[in-house]
Amino acid sequence: MPQSILFVCLGNICRSPLAEGAFRTEAERRGLDVEIDSAGTGNWHVGEPPDPRAVAVAQTNGVDIGAQRARQVHPRDFEKHDWIVALDGAVLDDLQAMRPDGARAEVMLFLDHVEGRSGEDVADPYYGQEDGFAVAWTDVTTGAKALADRIEAG
Ligand code: 4NP
Repeated sequence: MPQSILFVCLGNICRSPLAEGAFRTEAERRGLDVEIDSAGTGNWHVGEPPDPRAVAVAQTNGVDIGAQRARQVHPRDFEKHDWIVALDGAVLDDLQAMRPDGARAEVMLFLDHVEGRSGEDVADPYYGQEDGFAVAWTDVTTGAKALADRIEAG
């Protein structure tokens, strides 16, 4: 059985689509047998493609995230996935509150996998400057490598 991983942010149009794209690329490079998806805790952007600034920063780095469409996290996600990975601490709190007792999924913070960055958020670039997307890309690629290392370690 492949491991199933869901990345979650607030809107599912900036950070978690970038995390999905970065981790998919890293997993393919390493030949990992994983299923990957993303979602948001909020419903404002359901059905929309990622923010054009997120699409652009991924494209600059050779990753196409343009076909993704936003959706809201659902209670059944906690049965469907092994790991639900929050992009920031507020999202982590919301996911922990939503998690049904005895659910399959383990909920975790993305940057907890990165040495020296435990407890840190991938900052929300939505309302900020353009370079926030470059910072988010660097963070999600760093997180993707660390998460892939953990999966490879078993
Ligand atoms: P994301 O960024 O959580 O990284 O997708 C946001 C996108 C939209 C909103 C907030 C954050 N919003 O409030 O619409």
